[in-house]
Amino acid sequence: MNLTLNINGTVHSVYCAEGDLLLDVLRRLGFTSVREGCGVGACGSCTVLVDGHSVSSCLTLASRCSGTEIRTSEGLGKDNPVVRAFVDEGALQCGYCIPGFVMMATELLSENPHPNEKEIADHLEGNICRCGTYREIVKAVLLASSSASN
Ligand code: FES
Ligand code: FES
Repeated sequence: MNLTLNINGTVHSVYCAEGDLLLDVLRRLGFTSVREGCGVGACGSCTVLVDGHSVSSCLTLASRCSGTEIRTSEGLGKDNPVVRAFVDEGALQCGYCIPGFVMMATELLSENPHPNEKEIADHLEGNICRCGTYREIVKAVLLASSSASN
């Protein structure tokens, strides 16, 4: 079937099968920041925002996302305060998990612009970083939150 998806503000027309996962369709379209880790909803590396809410794209049918606004980290850009804060705090090692964390942080800050460390840790608890960069990631979210108030 032909599907129309709004991704980062641009409409894409894509042919896909009924059971195709959003993760695979996004990657086919070149949104390679969306990454498969576990494939079963347990690591967060495939996280994107759909109408502002985080979803595991490895568990989401692409066909269910027609008519929604999908956001991936490609849509944030390098001047985005969250992206900048991750860079400034050195919150990445191999980087594989980071787009998922960035999208979760974006969701958190849109709901709660000034979270404390516990609120950040709670919001990010479903995301796994195999490199163990958790401390720097929390510091990056705090930095992004403080730059939002300036
Ligand atoms: S790949 Fe989707 S949650 Fe792990
Ligand atoms: S930076 Fe390597 S898995 Fe998180």
